[in-house]
This record gives sequence, structure tokens and C-alpha cells, in this order.
Amino acid sequence: MILAPQALLSAQQQIQRDLHSCLDYFDLPHPLKDAVHHAVMLGGKRVRPALVYASAQLNGDVISAAARRAAVAVELIHCYSLTHDDLPCMDNDELRRGQPTCHVAYGEATALLAGDILQSMAFEVLGSRMFETADLPDPAIALRQMQLLATASSKMVCGQVLDLQAEGQSIDQSHLENIHRNKTGALIQAAIMLGATTVLPVAHPSFTHLRVFGQSLGLAFQVQDDILDITADTEILGKTAGKDIQVQKSTYPALLGLEAAQVYAQQLHDQALEALQQVKGNTQPLQDVTQFLLHRQS
Ligand code: IPE
Ligand code: IPE
Ligand code: MG
Ligand code: MG
Ligand code: MG
Repeated sequence: MILAPQALLSAQQQIQRDLHSCLDYFDLPHPLKDAVHHAVMLGGKRVRPALVYASAQLNGDVISAAARRAAVAVELIHCYSLTHDDLPCMDNDELRRGQPTCHVAYGEATALLAGDILQSMAFEVLGSRMFETADLPDPAIALRQMQLLATASSKMVCGQVLDLQAEGQSIDQSHLENIHRNKTGALIQAAIMLGATTVLPVAHPSFTHLRVFGQSLGLAFQVQDDILDITADTEILGKTAGKDIQVQKSTYPALLGLEAAQVYAQQLHDQALEALQQVKGNTQPLQDVTQFLLHRQS
């Protein structure tokens, strides 16, 4: 077991504070306010914000307001995706982050609307002055971040549709890869790009390698999620273990077998680290988060 790296720990603490401030900033009516709080504040590894912070440190260790906004925004999109993913019309899950899912706690309509508003909030945050001290947000960076996040969110939705269609179906590896790259990989990749956008000029050559790094890491993340559904306990996982098999989800262990899926996850991590070697600057925080993800237990 690899301990959470410093990049992840400090991101977790900072993001928790920033998410709090962000939810306070929005004046939501009850019961939406409580449902949003439930969906966002109760647990979660905060992997995507940690990746934003790690890539924002490629050129030094100062986390700018633009990087903090991006970390909040990507986590809000992620929490929206989880809230909708758990709904009875989707994966129909009752446990998330060790808590009753949002619709179990607040009812389906409120959970649906909590997901909806989280999505809008994410984009409002990117265009806001939140966490800004003196300077105005850079409009070019904010616009680029909005594009990155919108593209990844749309891909997530497309992947979710394909994921639901593939339940109980026999699909080949390239189809499964397409589902995973869209439903999960795109947002992980976007987190890396969002952070890098705050410190690298637009056409910097490192972007090409960061994109490849993010693509491999993002796919690896969902392969690992599929594996953990089989190998981890519900208590540690914070969600119902064995659920994918129950509903005949198309997953990597279902397609390749557990051992081959584990080998594949390792290969994808190796590919990710190889691409990262081509990136200029301080890649240590990104390497640390990558290592942690490979060995994660939940
Ligand atoms: C779970 O994501 C859903 C997937 C996209 C695989 P995480 O494993 O990052 O969930 P939290 O945020 O830590 O709860
Ligand atoms: C989730 O995939 C992808 C999302 C976009 C939320 P899963 O359905 O496998 O995620 P968990 O296992 O419920 O967290
Ligand atoms: Mg799902
Ligand atoms: Mg699910
Ligand atoms: Mg899963």
C-alpha cells in the first residue's frame, strides 16, 4: 500500500476548504442546498483536483486562483456525474462514499436537480473571481478552461449512454475502451489539462505529451474501478462491491478476466508514466498521484 502523496493530501485539504466557500457563495433554496452539500462535501478522494494541482505545479509550486477554480469546477462536474450515475434510472446504487446516495437521502427529483445545478455551478466558478486576490481572472485562460471542461463533460454523458446500452451485451475491447475513455477518462484528462493551462503558454509542446499521459491515466482509472468492484470490500470502497457483476456491466474483468485486467491496468500506468517523461518541468507531483492511483484501495 502506497501512502497518499503530499500532492494529494494538500489538494484534499485545500479543495475541501474551497468547495465549502464555493457552496456558500451560491444561495441555494432548501432542500437543494442540503442535497448539493451531500453530493459534494461527504468524502471522495478528490483525485481530479489533485491532478489539477499537480499539473499546475509543472512550473513552480504556487497554486494560482485559476488552478483553484479549475480544481473546484472539475470536482463539481465529477460530483454531478456521480449523483446522476447512482439514480435508479442509471446504476441504481444506494451507497456512495460510505453514505446513502443523494436520491436515497433527498429523493429522486432533488438529486436530479442537484446534479443539474452542480453542472452550471462548475462553469460559473470558472468565469468568476473566486479565490482571486488582486488581479482579474485571465479571460483567455478562463475560456480555454471552459472549453476543456465542457468537452470532457459532454464526453462523460456520451460514455454514460454507451455504458448503459452495453449492460448485458457482449462487446469487444475497442468498444469497451471507447466507453471508458468517454465516461471517465475524458474528465481525468481534462483535470490535467486544466491545471497545465494555468502555467503553460497555449501551444507549449508539453501539451501533446500531457494529453497522452491523461488519456492513459484516465483509462487506467476506470479499469482499476472495474477491478476494485470485484476485489475490494463494500466498507473500504464506500459503494456496493460486486454491483457490476450483479447488473452485468461491461467491464474489463468481465471481458478479459481479473488477472488480465490487472496486467492491463499496470500497462496503462506504465504508458502514462512514459508519456510523462516527455513533459518538461517538475513532473514529480503528477508522478506521485499516478503511483497512488495504481495502488489505491477504493
Ligand atoms: C468514481 O470516481 C467514479 C468513476 C469515474 C470511476 P472516484 O473513484 O474518483 O470517486 P470519489 O470521488 O473518490 O468518490
Ligand atoms: C462511473 O462509472 C462513471 C461516471 C461518469 C460517474 P461507474 O458507474 O463504474 O462508477 P461507480 O463505480 O458507480 O463509482
Ligand atoms: Mg455507471
Ligand atoms: Mg455507477
Ligand atoms: Mg464502477
